[in-house]
Amino acid sequence: MILNIRKYVMAAAVIGFTSCKEQKQEPLVLSSPSAVNEIQFSLSTEGVPTYQVSHGEIQVLNPSELGFVFKDKDSLYRNFEIVGVEQRSFDKEWEQVWGEKKTIRNNYNELAVQLQETGEKKRKLNIEFRAYDDGIAFRYIFPEQGVKDSIFIMDELTKFELAQDGKAWWIPAYGEQRYEYLFTESPVSTLDTVHTPLTIESKSGLSLSFHEANLINFASTTLAHTQGTTLKTDLVPWADGVKVRITDSFTTPWRSLQIAEDPTQLITSYLILNLNEPNKIADTSWIKPFSYIGIWWGMHIGKYTFWEGENQGATTENAKKYIDFAAQEGIDHLLIEGWNKGWTPDWYKNAMHQFNFTKQADNFDLEKVTDYAAEHNVRIIGYHETGSNIDNYLKQIDSAFALYNKVGIHDVKIGHVGSLLKMKEWHHGQFGVNYFRYVLEKAVEYKLTVLYHEPIKATGERRTYPNMMAREGARGQEYNAWSDGNPPAYTTILPFTRLLSGPMDFTAGILDVEISQGYPGRRVHSTAAKQLALLVCVYSPIQMFADLPENYQGQPAFQFLKEVPTDWEDTKVLNGAIGEYITTVRKDIHSEDWFLGSMTNEEPRDFEISLSFLDPDARYEAQIYADAQGTDLNNKPEAISITSKEVTAKDSLTLHLGAGGGAAVRFKQLSN
Ligand code: NOJ
Repeated sequence: MILNIRKYVMAAAVIGFTSCKEQKQEPLVLSSPSAVNEIQFSLSTEGVPTYQVSHGEIQVLNPSELGFVFKDKDSLYRNFEIVGVEQRSFDKEWEQVWGEKKTIRNNYNELAVQLQETGEKKRKLNIEFRAYDDGIAFRYIFPEQGVKDSIFIMDELTKFELAQDGKAWWIPAYGEQRYEYLFTESPVSTLDTVHTPLTIESKSGLSLSFHEANLINFASTTLAHTQGTTLKTDLVPWADGVKVRITDSFTTPWRSLQIAEDPTQLITSYLILNLNEPNKIADTSWIKPFSYIGIWWGMHIGKYTFWEGENQGATTENAKKYIDFAAQEGIDHLLIEGWNKGWTPDWYKNAMHQFNFTKQADNFDLEKVTDYAAEHNVRIIGYHETGSNIDNYLKQIDSAFALYNKVGIHDVKIGHVGSLLKMKEWHHGQFGVNYFRYVLEKAVEYKLTVLYHEPIKATGERRTYPNMMAREGARGQEYNAWSDGNPPAYTTILPFTRLLSGPMDFTAGILDVEISQGYPGRRVHSTAAKQLALLVCVYSPIQMFADLPENYQGQPAFQFLKEVPTDWEDTKVLNGAIGEYITTVRKDIHSEDWFLGSMTNEEPRDFEISLSFLDPDARYEAQIYADAQGTDLNNKPEAISITSKEVTAKDSLTLHLGAGGGAAVRFKQLSN
C-alpha cells in the first residue's frame, strides 16, 4: 500500500515511497542534506512511536517517546503500526520582506510517517520529521477520521531525552511576569518547568535550542524536566486544565531543535522561519522597518504620567515638541502612549481595567497631532494598552483600527500588562495563541503593522505575516527605569536565547545611562557605548531610541543612532559566549555599509576583530564609537570616544570594551 500522506504545493522532489507494514522493526532513518544531523524513527515493542537524533558521531537525543492524552478518550501513544512512509527533499531560497538577512535557504529532507492503531479503534496519527543541517523538527497531524465531536488534549507526551547533561539558560514558565525574568544558568538535570526557546550548551560540546514553530490554534509549549536529562512538552493549559480544544483534526506546531557546533551559529540559523508558511500578504508595500522615539521613557522614569494631570506625557503640546525633534533629526516615527482615555495610576493592576481606544485624553487632540506630524513627515505609532482586558479590547478593535486608518496611523503597539488575559487565561495558552493571531490578521485588514508587548513568544509568524514587526517578550530596557534592572550579563544572554524566537523591541539607545531625571538609585546597567551596540546586536525591524530628546541634543554619539539601519542584507556573528560577550556585524540593505556591535558583561574585554567580512575590493571609513578611556559601568559610563580610520577587509580592528561596556562601528564604504 502506498499512501500519499500530504499534498505538497511547493516544488518538491519525492525521493522515496515505501509501504512499511512489513518492515516495522527497522528504524526509519532521515538525514539532513549534508548528512550532519540524523533522525531515526521506530516503534517500540508496544508500538509506541519513538525518535532519536544524532549530530555526526554525537548522540543528541536518545530514543524519546511521542503521543497524546485525551479527555474521555483513550490515549494515543501505543499499539501503532506504520502503514505508510513518504520521503522528500526540499531546497529553495526565499526572500524576507524585511529582516536580518534578505535571502534565506530552506533546505531539508522530510520523512512523513503514517501510523495506525492495531486495536479496534484504528485511529490514525501522522508524524512529519524534517532534518536540516542546522537542526531538526517534527510535528503531529491527527487527520480527519470521523471524530465528529470535540477533542480535548490533556497532555502531549513528546519527550526529549538528552543524551548528555548540559548548561541551560532558562526562565521559569507559569510566572506572574510572563516572559519577563532574568535568565538562570543551571544543569538541564536540575530544571523545573521552563519557557522556550531553551538554550543548552551540552557536555557533548554542541549548542542546542529547543523551541516551536508555526504555532496556530494550539497551546504553546513549555518544557518540563521529568527525570535525569529528560524534558517533556508541557502544554500551557486553559483555566479549566484542558490543554487544547479542537474538533475533528489537528496539526501541532513544529517541535524544533536547533543544533550548532558553536553558540553563535544558533543566531544565524533560520530554522524557525523556514518552518513557517510563506508570506500571505500580497501587497507588502505598506510594511516598512523604521526607527522611532517615544513619549515613553519619560513615563517609566517618573518624569511624566501615563494619565491625565499635571505631568501628563501625552499632551498636544508635548507631542508637537517631540515631532519637532524627530523632524529635525530625521527620525521616522514617534510613539505616543497615554493618548487615550482610561489611564489612571492603577492602570497596571490586572483588574479588567476599561481603556477606551477611540476617545482621546484631555489635553490631547489626536487629529491635531497626526496632522502636525504629517506636515513634518513624521509618522505617529498608535498605542493600545489592553490591561489584558481582552473582551474590552476586542469589542473596540474595529473602531480603534478604523480610527488609526482615518488619522493616518500605520503602526500600532499593543500592550497586555497583567499576569493573565481576562484575569483568567495564560498569555501563552491556546486562548492567547488564538487571540494574538486574530489581532495580527485583523491588523492586516487595516494595513497596520503590529508591535506586541506582553506577547506570547514568537514562533516565526513574521514570515507569514510580515506586518508582525517585533514584540517584547522578555525584560526590556524599562526594567532599568523602575527596578533593580537588568545586570550587564543579561544582554549578552538575550541573543542566544529569547532572540532566537524573533525580533525584540528592547528599546535601547539610552545615552543618559545614570538617568539623571529618574528615580533615586535606578540606572541603566551599561555604558552608553553599549547602548549603541545593542542596536546592532539585538535584531528588530523597528528600533526605539528610548532616551528623552534632551539627552540626545548636542550628543555626537546620537549620529550613530540616526544612521544605524533597521533592515539588513546579511548578518554574521563574529564571536560570542553566552552570558559573556558577543560581536555581531550586519550589512545594510540599502547601501554598501556594514555596522558592528560588540557587547560585554561585567568583564572588560579586548578584541582583535578581523574585517574579512567587508568587500575585499573596497575601502571603508570605520567610524568607531567606543567606551572612552577609563570608562566602564561605574566610571564615566556616559563617555563615548568617537574616532575614525580607513580600513579594508585585510585589516583587523582593536576594540576595548569596559566592564559592562560595548562598541559600535559604522563601516562606510568609500568611493574609489
Ligand atoms: C509595559 C510595556 O512594556 C511598556 O512599553 C508600556 O509603556 C507600558 N506597559 C504601558 O502600557
